[in-house]
Order: sequence, then C-alpha cells, then structure tokens
Amino acid sequence: MDKFIQGCMRIKDVSVKDVRELIDANLENGINVFDHADIYGGGECETLFGKALKEAPELRDKIVIQTKCGIVKDLSCHRYDNSTNYILDCVHKSLKRLGVDKLDRLLIHRPDALMNPEEVAKAFDRLQGDGEVDSFGVSNFSAGQIELLSKNLRQKIEYDQIRVSIVHCPMIENGINYNRYNDGGVNRDYGTLEYCRINKIQIQCYSPYKGVTKSFIGDNFRYRALNKLLKEYAFKYEVTPNAIAAAWLLKHPADFAVINGTTKSQRVKEIVKGANITLTRSEWYELYKSIGRRLP
Ligand SMILES: NC(=O)c1ccc[n+]([C@@H]2O[C@H](COP(=O)([O-])OP(=O)(O)OC[C@H]3O[C@@H](n4cnc5c(N)ncnc54)[C@H](OP(=O)(O)O)[C@@H]3O)[C@@H](O)[C@H]2O)c1
Repeated sequence: MDKFIQGCMRIKDVSVKDVRELIDANLENGINVFDHADIYGGGECETLFGKALKEAPELRDKIVIQTKCGIVKDLSCHRYDNSTNYILDCVHKSLKRLGVDKLDRLLIHRPDALMNPEEVAKAFDRLQGDGEVDSFGVSNFSAGQIELLSKNLRQKIEYDQIRVSIVHCPMIENGINYNRYNDGGVNRDYGTLEYCRINKIQIQCYSPYKGVTKSFIGDNFRYRALNKLLKEYAFKYEVTPNAIAAAWLLKHPADFAVINGTTKSQRVKEIVKGANITLTRSEWYELYKSIGRRLP
C-alpha cells in the first residue's frame, strides 16, 4: 500500500532540472509513485516529466507512473468522455508525452454521466492486452459507480482518487453523523469509504493541504483554531504542520495514500515525517473538530 504519492498537477512552470530534483527527493524519501493526468497543464506536465525521464532513463524502472483521462477540456465545452476510443486516444497521447511505452496505472478521472461500462471494459482489455497499462483505477467515483463498472471489467479497480483532508472529508463526517439531521449527516459519500475498505480499493487523498482557495496551513483567517492545533502538535512531534496534516490522514484505518501536490523538494522531505507519527485518538478528534464540527 502506498503511503505517499507525488502529484504532478502543479509542475507546469517548473524547470526540467527542478522536476528531476523533485523526483529524486521523492525517491530518497521512499516515494516512487507519480500522479499525472492528461489535462494537467494542458499536457505540459506530462511533457516536462517525460523530458526529465529522457535525461535520466535509469529512473524509469525505479518509479511508478500513474495517469488519468476522461475529462475533456477544450474551448468549446468542458465535459467528460469515458468511451473506448477516447480512453485509447488519451493513453496513447500520454505515453508519447511521457516518452514511455507503458503506464503502470491508469485511472478514469471522473465519472461520465453517459458512461457505458462495456466501453470502458473494451478499452481496459485492449490496453492490458497490448501491454500499455499494468493496473487500473478511478477517481471521484462513488461506491455504486465503481460497482457498476467493476461488474463489467475483467480487471480489478485498485484505486479511487478522492479529495480528502482535515478540512474536506464528507466521507468521514458522514460516518460520524449517520442518521442525524445536520449537515454532516447529509450523505455525500454513498458508502464509498466502507466500500473501498471492504473491497481493498486504496483511496488516494488529493488536495490534502488545500483550503478554500489556498492551503489551509497558515491560513489563520479561515482556519485559526486548526492552525493553532497544527502548530502545537508540530512542536510536540518536532515536525511541520504539513506532516501533522498528513499524519491525520495516515492514522485512518482505511490505509489512505496521501498525494502531495507541492513542487518543493524541501516540503516533501518535511511531509514524509508524518508517516512516523501516531497522533493520539484525542489529537485526531481535536483536529477534526477544530474547524467547527461537533461530535454527536
Ligand atoms: N483526481 C482529481 O480530480 C484531482 C484533483 C486535484 C488534484 N489531484 C492530484 O492531487 C495532487 C495534489 O493536489 P493539490 O496540489 O491540490 O494538493 P495539496 O498538496 O493539498 O496542495 C498543494 C498546494 O498547497 C501549497 N501548500 C502546501 N503546504 C503549504 C504550506 N505549508 N504553506 C503554503 N502553501 C502550501 C503548495 O504550494 P508549494 O508548491 O509552495 O508547496 C501547493 O500550491 C495533484 O498534484 C494531482 O496529482 C487530483
């Protein structure tokens, strides 16, 4: 099970040299999975990563490349497309941009309301048969959507990439507030957390430090109480607030993977220390409550 993944959504304006440094910093800290999507930077993020790999081909065997497809971003209409031909076309373009002949993991980026699971199955069979993709997953899919897709697939869905952090965790809030007439009790999760745990699908938490517009870490305007606690625990455990926010996710028994979106090698080094910390139950719940949530 992965503990951390390096997200590559924000590397568009980073130099090839700095991308290489980021890859190295991750590897030195035990992180070998790199998350992409065809749409990140309009394809530029995969291209830059490909350039870094071209300069150091020996890295390919040391890393796991994961990318996503299914969101269509063109000027005419923002939409989704999980049809066979669209998926195949995206994968072939990603392979080209990354300069590799195989993706280790492919995730369907978002559920397409018009998705025909048999079409996805055809694409997955073709990609696996041709040796172009090793394993498969989804992102932003609910339990029911994974179940529907899985019934049609020969391959197991191994991952669901979902936004989860201390400040954004409807899937956790929902479990705590089951059967209550408050906002936390509104079912926004559809049992996805439990479904993934039962079916051994790893949840990859994206935007683990993101608040409303910027990071919640250091945002004392919106998250004063949370930041006070993060600082207090950071001092106690001799790490940074980011590491505490990561430790909060890693304490959950679902074995989440945390996708770090930073482009700074130094931050990666600091964050991984979160894996060596075990917050107490009381600290975990205090962090949960620090943005105004109440326990029943
Ligand atoms: N599947 C999906 O729909 C989806 C959606 C969004 C993202 N993702 C994936 O998840 C990855 C992570 O998402 P994300 O980038 O939103 O996550 P994130 O790691 O929560 O956010 C990263 C941003 O927060 C900043 N930040 C972190 N700690 C900070 C601190 N202490 N002080 C100030 N700024 C801080 C980073 O700046 P610095 O660079 O300065 O550290 C960066 O701009 C992405 O790269 C992508 O791979 C997937």
